[in-house]
Amino acid sequence: MARGEFNSRIGTFATVAGSVVGLGNLWRFPYLAGENGGSAFLLVYLCVSLLVSLPVMLSELSIGRSQRCNAMRAFKNIAPGPWFLVGFLGVAAAYVITSFYMVVGGWSLEFLRASVVGEFSGKSSDEIKNYFDLFLAGGTGPTLQALVSLGISLVVVVLGVSKGIERFNKILMPALFVLILILVCNSLFCLPESWKGVTFLLKPDFEKISLQTVLTAMGQSFFSLSLGMGAMLTYGSYISSDRNLPKTALGIVTFDSLVAILSGMVIFPAVFSFGLEPTQGPTLLFNTMPNIFQQMPGGYGFSILFFLLVYFAAVTSQVSLLETVTAFASEELRMKRWKACLAIALTMSVTGSMCALSLSGHGWFEIGGKPLFDIFDSVSSNVMLPLGGFFIVLFAGWIMPSRVLQSQLTNSENESPSINYVVLRFLIRFVSPIFVALLFLTLIGVI
Ligand code: TRP
Repeated sequence: MARGEFNSRIGTFATVAGSVVGLGNLWRFPYLAGENGGSAFLLVYLCVSLLVSLPVMLSELSIGRSQRCNAMRAFKNIAPGPWFLVGFLGVAAAYVITSFYMVVGGWSLEFLRASVVGEFSGKSSDEIKNYFDLFLAGGTGPTLQALVSLGISLVVVVLGVSKGIERFNKILMPALFVLILILVCNSLFCLPESWKGVTFLLKPDFEKISLQTVLTAMGQSFFSLSLGMGAMLTYGSYISSDRNLPKTALGIVTFDSLVAILSGMVIFPAVFSFGLEPTQGPTLLFNTMPNIFQQMPGGYGFSILFFLLVYFAAVTSQVSLLETVTAFASEELRMKRWKACLAIALTMSVTGSMCALSLSGHGWFEIGGKPLFDIFDSVSSNVMLPLGGFFIVLFAGWIMPSRVLQSQLTNSENESPSINYVVLRFLIRFVSPIFVALLFLTLIGVI
């Protein structure tokens, strides 16, 4: 009995961690930290994750576990009226995120291919940067790789092999973690300017914090934790009723932040040692990593392994995004699962190709001089997910009956509430929604 419980606790953790850990940690966190002052960003990120994102995660898990159904129906079950629209916003967000996510998935496939054929061997950091710039400018390569990346997740979702990919995940996530630890050691001990990178990421510098930093950190925290669009709500509906939700959520937030920080500890020492720009944006991971493998003993093998695992991390998250839209379309529009999935993937391949082409530098698919890729990336995280998260905590804190929230968070209804519950409820009802609302109002100039 006790052993069974232990097993399923690990299983719960691994499944949630599999969706949460992805390109958000490996690719997006380092590039945003690089653009937003390194340590200043990290500090804000950690505070926001605890005070704003953790309550949103608990709200999603509680709503999901109490209703045990998909996101839109869960809202409908608890309260009539327009609350189900939060589910729609989630589907739209999943659509927008997948469109640029598949492009980055495509980049990791390209770097995997290049690693296998030894494309980077003997190249200087400038030559590696040129290689990537030329690849992006070509347009066809990035588009094709993005489509392959989408195609692979399409096959997985159509086959519905969730058990297969989950089991896969349980092996691949620890493998990725061990590989990152090896790379951290290499970056810290074998690179000449590693201390500069560590200082950049860890030495607090409060002057660099701006309102924009806070918004970006919040968006990144939501993105990285898969919050604000009902994905965690859906997972919550699969968690058994004797699991402790606050402990699970805190464990996930800690693990997710740890992977992001480790990724930064791999990349920034290399950025400073090879004279790269920490502020270069979305291309940071891809321009930096090949340099590390050049200098490392066994770099050829590590390079292949690394980009393979980056792609696995990407595909597991991409599957959860595609699945969100597929489930919605097949249930609400009463389509067959494979038909719904194919139709969605076809439309996504159009928007995804537009995102890939928008980075070619030819001025295609740019709005106001900004590539569609960048617009999708920032609008989804900085607007759609926080907005969705705002309504979700509001719903859990004020609309859902409080005895339901209490029973989900404490696994009991009758006892006088524990201090932990009182604190969590306060975060859900007041801190998290007020913080998001104030930030939005300040940014649009109302306050
Ligand atoms: N969290 C994943 C990452 O860090 C991305 C992701 C998967 C996601 N599912 C999501 C983001 C749902 C927002 C919502 O890469």
